[in-house]
Amino acid sequence: MIKKKKSKSFKFLPFSPKQNKLLNWWREESPHHDKDMIIADGSIRSGKTIACICSFLLFTQETFPNGENFILAGKTMGALKKNVVKPMIQILTAWGWTYNYNRSENYIEIGNNTYYMYGANTEASQDALQGLTAAGAYADEAALFPQSFIDQMIGRCSVEGAKVFMNCNPEGPHHYVKAEFIDKAKEKNVYHLHFTMDDNLSLSQKVKDRFRRMFTGVFFKRFILGLWVASDGLIYQQFADNPDEFMIDDEWLQKNPIMYGTIGVDFGGNTSAHSFKFTGFTYQYKEVVTVMEYYRHERITPKQLNEDFIDFVRRVQSKYKCYEAYCDSAEQTLISGMEAAIVEAGITLDIKNAIKGPINDRIAFYNSMMAQGRYKIHKSCTHLKSAFEEAVYDEDEPTKDVRLDDGKMDIDSLDSQEYSTEYIQNDIMYINVA
Ligand SMILES: Nc1ncnc2c1ncn2[C@@H]1O[C@H](COP(=O)(O)OP(=O)(O)OP(=O)(O)O)[C@@H](O)[C@H]1O
Ligand SMILES: [Mg+2]
Repeated sequence: MIKKKKSKSFKFLPFSPKQNKLLNWWREESPHHDKDMIIADGSIRSGKTIACICSFLLFTQETFPNGENFILAGKTMGALKKNVVKPMIQILTAWGWTYNYNRSENYIEIGNNTYYMYGANTEASQDALQGLTAAGAYADEAALFPQSFIDQMIGRCSVEGAKVFMNCNPEGPHHYVKAEFIDKAKEKNVYHLHFTMDDNLSLSQKVKDRFRRMFTGVFFKRFILGLWVASDGLIYQQFADNPDEFMIDDEWLQKNPIMYGTIGVDFGGNTSAHSFKFTGFTYQYKEVVTVMEYYRHERITPKQLNEDFIDFVRRVQSKYKCYEAYCDSAEQTLISGMEAAIVEAGITLDIKNAIKGPINDRIAFYNSMMAQGRYKIHKSCTHLKSAFEEAVYDEDEPTKDVRLDDGKMDIDSLDSQEYSTEYIQNDIMYINVA
């Protein structure tokens, strides 16, 4: 289906000097115009994406007026549509450029050029990319892509004069984007631009201060200061320092009613546990509250598991609105069994696959909700409480942020907790911040 424009128009405010560099680096008069790639890294909300979109549109249209293919990539197709395509359409509307956006086939035609959209997280996307010859690529939040996708994307840009535009927030200091492109910028002919929130003139001091309060620890250093720093030690330091600050009781729940909630399910294996969490949301998503948990470490039959799950869902639904459960997608047989058991028991509940996106996104979400005082745990959820208190990064994996999973750590509680909020985490995190 081809959809013509009927979008809101982007309300431009003045670009900062840094944004102007990003906008114009590829132009003849820029000292960097012979570079093959630009990487804009740094703080959240620093104006990287908006300036990168404008720059990419102008570069591709001015340099290749006769019809070429281009790549637009996000960490997932959903994130690409929300973070890039949506503002891009508003920008096109503001500029008065016409376009055809094919929403079902995921491409946009502007002038003679076609921009193909990819979610970096799926195999299908990587396969689709393989057949393409492109004159440029735009990668939003590139540090969350598998390296294979980035390599493939760069490899596809074989048209003479092609350029790659990337932006990202920092990860660890040994992350491949840092090690391969930023640290080797000269050798790889990369132009590196570093952004902080002061490079976004649309943010008031008050809003910047609110963002600063959104993160603690390593995430503060990465997302606010924009530094590529290593994670180490306790993952949820703030929680471990003062767990009681996060615990709530029935009285709290009476004063702060739960609008509705979602269940997260992690299935146990040989050494791991079965874990269910019911997470509720208070009015306007002000708080995210783990209200009930189930945790069973011993081996049980699928039949027993289904009975336990039905019992859990009944307890949840007797008190709260709950329509969905997100389950570990690695266990399709158990999921199917559960679905059948739910139907047979006459329970209305949508059983879905957990998203299982980047682990750092999930950790950052809980870090932020804790920092904002918006995450609570009912005192009955003792397994989850311990899991948050004890979780540490794996010292043997210094190049990646890996949670230590030595069989003693309760990763199952953390996974099931995260599955219950992952589908909505990005929307909730910034509520009331900007
Ligand atoms: N020149 C501008 N005019 C108007 N609004 C702007 C401008 N530059 C940035 N913004 C707005 O500031 C906010 C943050 O900008 P943007 O999304 O580009 O930041 P980012 O660095 O990509 O952030 P993140 O790292 O969180 O993805 C957005 O709401 C964006 O629309
Ligand atoms: Mg961005």
